[in-house]
Amino acid sequence: MVPLSKLLIFTMFFVIVYSTAATRVLELSDKFLEIYKDGHWLIKMYAPWCAHCKRIEPVWNHVAQSLHTSSVRVGRIDCTRFTSVAHHFKIKGFPTILFLKGDEQFVYNGDRTRDELVKFALRLSGPPVQEVTKTVSFDTLKKERDLYFLYVGARTGVLWDIYRDAASIYQPHAFFYQSHPVVVEKHAPVDKTPALFVYKENSHYNFTEHNITDKDELNETLHKWINAERFPTFPKVTRGNIHQLFLTNKNLVLAVVEESKAEEIPPEMLEFRDMVESVIKKKRHKYHDHFQFGWVASPELVNSIAMMVVPLPSLIVINSTTNHHYIPEDEPEKLTPHAIELFLEQIQSENVPKYGGNGIIVRIYRSWFEVRSALISMWKGNPVLTLVLFGLPAGFLSLICYNIWCPDILDADDDDEDEQTGSSHIKKD
Ligand SMILES: *[C@@H]1O[C@H](CO)[C@@H](O)[C@H](O)[C@H]1NC(C)=O
Ligand SMILES: *[C@@H]1O[C@H](CO)[C@@H](O)[C@H](O)[C@H]1NC(C)=O
Ligand SMILES: *[C@@H]1O[C@H](CO)[C@@H](O)[C@H](O)[C@H]1NC(C)=O
Ligand SMILES: *[C@@H]1O[C@H](CO)[C@@H](O)[C@H](O)[C@H]1NC(C)=O
Repeated sequence: MVPLSKLLIFTMFFVIVYSTAATRVLELSDKFLEIYKDGHWLIKMYAPWCAHCKRIEPVWNHVAQSLHTSSVRVGRIDCTRFTSVAHHFKIKGFPTILFLKGDEQFVYNGDRTRDELVKFALRLSGPPVQEVTKTVSFDTLKKERDLYFLYVGARTGVLWDIYRDAASIYQPHAFFYQSHPVVVEKHAPVDKTPALFVYKENSHYNFTEHNITDKDELNETLHKWINAERFPTFPKVTRGNIHQLFLTNKNLVLAVVEESKAEEIPPEMLEFRDMVESVIKKKRHKYHDHFQFGWVASPELVNSIAMMVVPLPSLIVINSTTNHHYIPEDEPEKLTPHAIELFLEQIQSENVPKYGGNGIIVRIYRSWFEVRSALISMWKGNPVLTLVLFGLPAGFLSLICYNIWCPDILDADDDDEDEQTGSSHIKKD
């Protein structure tokens, strides 16, 4: 016999939550508001008519599948049916992806791919700094996490406090661990504790400024270091992560290629991308402090920064502090690793022309460029709809303007006459 209380909870759960047969995604209702503070939830707020929501549907199913064995429950809520939920979580657009734990709420702004979404949920489902207590865990960790921060030493002291606070700020974006010298020994021997490093692409990179005695300075240095190190050496740059990359305050060196819908890149573009990657892979120590490399698969992102249609493939360097950009003079086909290195040196010594920036004129021009590009792509996609959407209101608007600024010619003649008679009256007087 199942105890009554258990049965009750069980049925309650199924009244609130009924899982659709083919997927592990829970279809939730407004009853969710009563239960969401228990446990960890990754929730997609959607509207049935929203095309972007439909597009991530298969991804969402995979995410639910991947998180099936974790503590995170994956669900979705139709906000057009359950408006109270949308209201409660202050949902402004669809789809909105939220991670909820207790009273905390995190909005997901990254790439809507399974891997990124799963990592986001896993990071947030644990404490900001997770402890690693077994040597074997590191083997799994290295396999499953392409990038993580590790603090080796006891959980006390100034560096620990700062590390823990930083971890809670960056928790949605990176994995943070803590362990002890004996556990880490085999993987990354440390001379003295505390030690702090980041693991990525099978290498360790040390944090070396422990000896800073001023607490605020140490805090600032550590934040800068985490910010500079929390990206892979050559990430794919998208609308989802470009804002995070701008926080590095480095120059972003981007190889621009175009991916097909099936995420395939033509061979000559792939070759170009690999060539750019080879520059940073070979000379990481030389460039790492001032340049963050990466590649872009959708040229529109770069077009709107450069305010022009960049050729494909091509190379662009963006100063993430000032938003200025640099474009090599050589044709992209003629670029070699050597030419790129020269170009980067010229940027550092400010010997190449820079374009764009953050000035008001540039910002206005950029908005105009974006509107124009959006219109052009709309026109290419559906000329009739574009005409109806913009043609009709524009037609009305021009009629109204015409009536305001160009009064009827007959009226104008009347006015003239009035004035003339008026003035003749005055003259007469
Ligand atoms: C990082 O620190 C460890 C000791 O804590 C040292 O053995 C290792 O060589 C250092 N790595 C680099 C790249 O400096
Ligand atoms: C910290 O130590 C490094 C060498 O390990 C040294 O170059 C640096 O000047 C020291 N910084 C301070 C603030 O003492
Ligand atoms: C440490 O620095 C970060 C970023 O500069 C800041 O947000 C945070 O408040 C600082 N923490 C302390 C304890 O000063
Ligand atoms: C970006 O430009 C500013 C102003 O020219 C410069 O001070 C800064 O060093 C540049 N950033 C990088 C990473 O070179």
